[in-house]
Amino acid sequence: MSLNDFIKQLDDLVESASKRFEDAINQTDHQVLEETRVEFLGAKSGKLKEAQKGLGKVAKEDKPAAGKRFNEVKTRLEELFQAAADVITGGGKKGKAEALDVTLPGIRPRLGHVHPITQTIDELKDIMGRLGFTAVEGPEIEDDWHNFEALNIPLEHPARDPLDNFYLNIAAASHGGGNQLLRSQTSTVQIRVMEESQPPIRIVSLGRVYRPDEIDATHYAMFHQIEGLLVDTNVTMADLKYVLRLFASSYLGGDIEIRFRPSFFPFTEPSVEVDMRWQDTWLEFGGAGMVDPNVLKAVGYDPEIVTGFAFGLGVERLCMRRHGINDIRYLYDSNTKFLAQF
Ligand code: DAH
Repeated sequence: MSLNDFIKQLDDLVESASKRFEDAINQTDHQVLEETRVEFLGAKSGKLKEAQKGLGKVAKEDKPAAGKRFNEVKTRLEELFQAAADVITGGGKKGKAEALDVTLPGIRPRLGHVHPITQTIDELKDIMGRLGFTAVEGPEIEDDWHNFEALNIPLEHPARDPLDNFYLNIAAASHGGGNQLLRSQTSTVQIRVMEESQPPIRIVSLGRVYRPDEIDATHYAMFHQIEGLLVDTNVTMADLKYVLRLFASSYLGGDIEIRFRPSFFPFTEPSVEVDMRWQDTWLEFGGAGMVDPNVLKAVGYDPEIVTGFAFGLGVERLCMRRHGINDIRYLYDSNTKFLAQF
């Protein structure tokens, strides 16, 4: 092919392209514009691509001139397309990025949401608040005194075993240089509250506790408990059962039955395991009992004058039961697809 023929072919291409892009502008039609773009600039079989083949057929010495011309035409076609696109999308000369069609729906910002455990904590606080219990907090780094001693758990008790607790390698700040640890239970807060106030007491405390348990579907090294404490005159186990039943019914829905099974905790006497009946099965949710006189004495109360009840339940268990979650690990592996359901 001669250089002249090649150039003539390119000129024809520019001429027909300008007509066709002009048509697209006149029709103000995105579809026509796109078709025109593919017809001329399409990467596979566009007319420009077709013309490029002629480049290989011109004589060797004409190649530089032919190539230069080809590149000019390519730029020209791209300009024609861009200009038509700008007019059709209403962006004028400024280009695509600033073209704004105010009639299109807006882009919805993605909102985060509250974690199911935090939702559960908020709801449990609300329920207990309606029953007259004030929500209080306690530290997650505790000392021997609040986690064990004052709760009537003596030094030789297996619950204090280093293998069952996260002891910290730092010096204790209070109570005679004992150990510090990540608290293994929220019962610590009972002591902190009673040390600082006088009966009547009616509190709940919800928060994290830590145990070096092997992780599986029902165990995690960190979980949450709800701790309740009521101290007053003439408190009985009937009060405890009534409060727990109201609590369970409010959270799980319907009239939930409560079952007490005899148990042992150093800080309550008598002690019970608390089961709730859920769809014909009894499920264990935690422990409870009447506050042990030794605990009342440890904080300077007179067990001859006041009595109290306490309970500690697993927040994850409640949340999992209510939502039908069957593996605690789902709650903590930060999979937003899972968490977004709640
Ligand atoms: N602290 C106990 C635990 O973590 C649960 C518990 C049992 C709390 C009896 C109480 C209670 O307040 O009275 O296993």
